[in-house]
Amino acid sequence: MSNVVSLSSDAAAAFRERFGESGSAHVGWSPGRVNLIGEYMDLNNGFAMPMAIDLGVCVVLRTNTTGDVRGYSMAFDEAAEFRLDDVALERIPGWARYLAGVALLSRERGCDVGGFDAVVHGDLPIGGGVSSSAALSIAMTMALESAASWSIDALSAAKMCQEVEHRFAGVMCGIMDQLACRTGQPEHAVLIDCASLETSAVPVKSELASFLIVDSGVPRSLHQSEYNARRTECLAAVEAINALGHPIADLRGLTAAMLAEVGSSIEPHLARRCRHVVTENERVLSAHAALTHDRLSDFGGLMNASHASLRDDFEVSIEELDSIVSLANEIDGVLGARLTGAGFGGNAIVLARPDAAVGAREAIVGGFAARYGREPRVHRIGSTTPAQGGPSLPLR
Ligand code: GLA
Repeated sequence: MSNVVSLSSDAAAAFRERFGESGSAHVGWSPGRVNLIGEYMDLNNGFAMPMAIDLGVCVVLRTNTTGDVRGYSMAFDEAAEFRLDDVALERIPGWARYLAGVALLSRERGCDVGGFDAVVHGDLPIGGGVSSSAALSIAMTMALESAASWSIDALSAAKMCQEVEHRFAGVMCGIMDQLACRTGQPEHAVLIDCASLETSAVPVKSELASFLIVDSGVPRSLHQSEYNARRTECLAAVEAINALGHPIADLRGLTAAMLAEVGSSIEPHLARRCRHVVTENERVLSAHAALTHDRLSDFGGLMNASHASLRDDFEVSIEELDSIVSLANEIDGVLGARLTGAGFGGNAIVLARPDAAVGAREAIVGGFAARYGREPRVHRIGSTTPAQGGPSLPLR
């Protein structure tokens, strides 16, 4: 039985127990994502190439006209109650803010929702850099679309869920996660041009490439503040470069030649941030070409270079993630590794030849445990189930 079927039936059982059988409940599902390459590029209008994964979040939802909201998170074993029209965000748990945010912004876009009962369930590690919050927002949107007979196109849904992060969670994220969760398809990565917001599906051949997600187990405590700080630094770099007589709208517009000219005239840490963005953008395009032409070793090399750039130039890595990447690269059949997502803890992603994946997993767990005295959680990515909603799941 797929995890979507078992998760949604467990969530439906919890829903019935807590909120009763009456009326009709609807289910929304969203996969999480890993970013294969192109980190912090959405903040700079560059390219990114994430992939939806076979872990995700489901929301079982029943709407009402009273305006009352009752929510329950199975992961946190926590309940939340509030009025949708009068929600005090600081008084409700983090996960419930996403439910409120999606409902309120959907309403602004024409969805007829008064209040609702909802149960949230999932198998995606929470706060680990694999987009648990984007998956929650997208799953909630899918459930609401079905429950309120309303529809929103994929790009608008992704933009709305990004706005939920900004306005209801205070994280000034880009749009990569929401687009990846909403549009991801089985056996494909998504190449996103974050300037035009065009997406294209890129085949990932499971007979050539296996991906492991390795959880450093380090909570991303600095994530929110440092993430927002990186965004501010990128904007400051654009301003500084403009002031030097190079009119660019964003760091996507910065070329290597321009950076060579202005790099020593701007603050050193801003020059490092710029170097990451310029080189990472080139790496995504090279990685896309490598994947398309089955050059997986080249792809792995680009992942390693991306990690080094995130560690040294963008400065978002931590020792444990660096250790996973170097441990992985010592293993036969591993082609590359890097931190994935915003960094400051969370997960690394490892690319291995399929015949080497099981051995790689054991060696990484062993090596990490020898160094840190605890075993990291490792997940081998399987085929995703796309985001969807309906009276019961999966629909396809
Ligand atoms: C987080 C954000 C994304 C993106 C990545 C870094 O996942 O939500 O928008 O900026 O970090 O690439």
